[in-house]
Amino acid sequence: MIDLMGVRKVYPVKGGTEVVALDNLTLHVERGSIHGIVGQSGAGKSTLIRCLTALESPTEGRIVVDGVDMTALSGARLREARRRIGMVFQAANLLDQRTAADNIGYPLRLAREKKPVIAARVEEMLELVGLSGRGSSYPSQLSGGQKQRVGIARAMADTPSVLLCDEPTSALDGESTRQILDLLRQVRDVSGVTVVVITHEMGVVREICDSVTLLRHGSVVQSGTVEEVVSDATSPLAQELVPAPHVSASEVPDGMKLLDVVFTSRPGTPTGATVLNLAASMGADVTAGTFESIGETQVGRLALSVPGYHSDQIIRQLGEHQIRAEVREA
Ligand SMILES: Nc1ncnc2c1ncn2[C@@H]1O[C@H](COP(=O)(O)OP(=O)(O)OP(=O)(O)O)[C@@H](O)[C@H]1O
Ligand SMILES: [Mg+2]
Repeated sequence: MIDLMGVRKVYPVKGGTEVVALDNLTLHVERGSIHGIVGQSGAGKSTLIRCLTALESPTEGRIVVDGVDMTALSGARLREARRRIGMVFQAANLLDQRTAADNIGYPLRLAREKKPVIAARVEEMLELVGLSGRGSSYPSQLSGGQKQRVGIARAMADTPSVLLCDEPTSALDGESTRQILDLLRQVRDVSGVTVVVITHEMGVVREICDSVTLLRHGSVVQSGTVEEVVSDATSPLAQELVPAPHVSASEVPDGMKLLDVVFTSRPGTPTGATVLNLAASMGADVTAGTFESIGETQVGRLALSVPGYHSDQIIRQLGEHQIRAEVREA
């Protein structure tokens, strides 16, 4: 659906050395999936989005969206291809002097659709985002979450095949965030649109993403379905998505050792309950733990206190059940 192949983006800097914002980036996003892009500030996330919308062209490489090579287009054909891409921003960026309905219909007016077509589509979009009856409200009369709903309705009005969301929930509180994430998933389910979400919140990835890519210095560190990336509990994304519990080895009493235990359970392998029972039967105390369910996969991280003389044997026994454990050094 979306393919980036060897994409490089270099910004010239006056009087300085150039900045390599994207470096040989190769990435595939499946049709109809929700794909998260995460990475620290400066990793290249916004540059990637600008290249996907063809607001900027890469220095090298190809970007193919829905079968169209964006890097080979210009003029009217590029404008046509851009209509297939909807954008949702952190702040909804609505026109304050226009009603919700006018904001939603805006891209259709730009595309010179006929008035009855626009009116019907606006009604459909208001219903899709749960704002039926609020079309005549102005942005100042809507909550932050409702404004973002209008933003999503506007992005979907021209039936895009791709929805690009740049930090869509960063300006919202917890409850509105959950509602907007539910809405994005519902919009995808109803329309089959492919969604790319840029976010710094791992909760967003846990909640709605089917697949995820971690960027660092403009390159892909790790990419795959969320279940794939957490199945190796030691991988960078697994550590971000299911962080280890906060315990210090110095908190453990004399003669005891702290074991860091990670396990990934899928149907047919040990579950969290089995691991806890196993730990108890070996005389290990659970000092802290985190469990996270991602699709059918459960990832757990435990800090176990065990008698020092017994630790090697416990590590071996856990290993027989595909549970990885190691001693945390003080
Ligand atoms: N127009 C520009 N000119 C020069 N350098 C730029 C330009 N835009 C971005 N950069 C540089 O490219 C790199 C990637 O920037 P980008 O904005 O894509 O990062 P980001 O991952 O979106 O970060 P953030 O999470 O802070 O938004 C940074 O080093 C940035 O300084
Ligand atoms: Mg950015």
